[in-house]
Amino acid sequence: MATIETCLSPDLLPLHEVAAKNVVIVDIFRATSTMVAALANGVSSILPIMDLESCRAKASEGYVIAGERNGKTASGFELGNSPLAYTNGQYAGKRIAMTTTNGTVAIEKTASFANQIVLGAFINLESTANYLLEQKEDVLIVCAGWKGKFNLEDSLYAGALAKLLVPRMHTDCDATIAMRSLYESNEHRLKLFLSQAAHSKRLQNHGIEEDIDFCLTLNQYSVVGVVKGGELVVNSEN
Ligand code: MLT
Repeated sequence: MATIETCLSPDLLPLHEVAAKNVVIVDIFRATSTMVAALANGVSSILPIMDLESCRAKASEGYVIAGERNGKTASGFELGNSPLAYTNGQYAGKRIAMTTTNGTVAIEKTASFANQIVLGAFINLESTANYLLEQKEDVLIVCAGWKGKFNLEDSLYAGALAKLLVPRMHTDCDATIAMRSLYESNEHRLKLFLSQAAHSKRLQNHGIEEDIDFCLTLNQYSVVGVVKGGELVVNSEN
């Protein structure tokens, strides 16, 4: 039976076996939520990039550039990291180059080892769970966290996903068990519970409440986002 494991921060990756696993990268506020919303609204591909200057340079290759640091749009970038920038289909058919504080770092740190990278977000929770169950491969959920630290929203997502995957998958990972229990105790009041999360407060201070609400509205989309050829695309099998 395939197994589930949770890595609560990219800094803990050396403690986990990544090879040959389906790695679910999750950055609820907001990187992976934005990537899923962009792909669901017709963006053709997203190139995740670690640093601002390499991302900025992609504009000359025809990419739309999206950059965020500490919750704010990076200077000189067309887009920041709001999922709402994509929901009117304005970027359908476009290629996006994207750099964020944590989400693109987590992808960069796992991409070369994993069997496959899959995007994790509440806005397409069920479709990701169904896809992973079809694949029948071991799953490692990697929480992007905040600059190496644990964060509440990504870890709670790990619990929500585990709730859908168990019992058809097995876990003896304490982090997964703990987060599933925390999710089950708070799934009926997700927005209230996560309003106390550090990054939720940071975004509230930036006046970005709308994004928080959007990122916590479950199952708005049925797409599955995966890395193919180094870029994020909609999984063509579904
Ligand atoms: C990140 O990568 O840390 C987040 O996506 C930050 C944000 O968008 O506010």
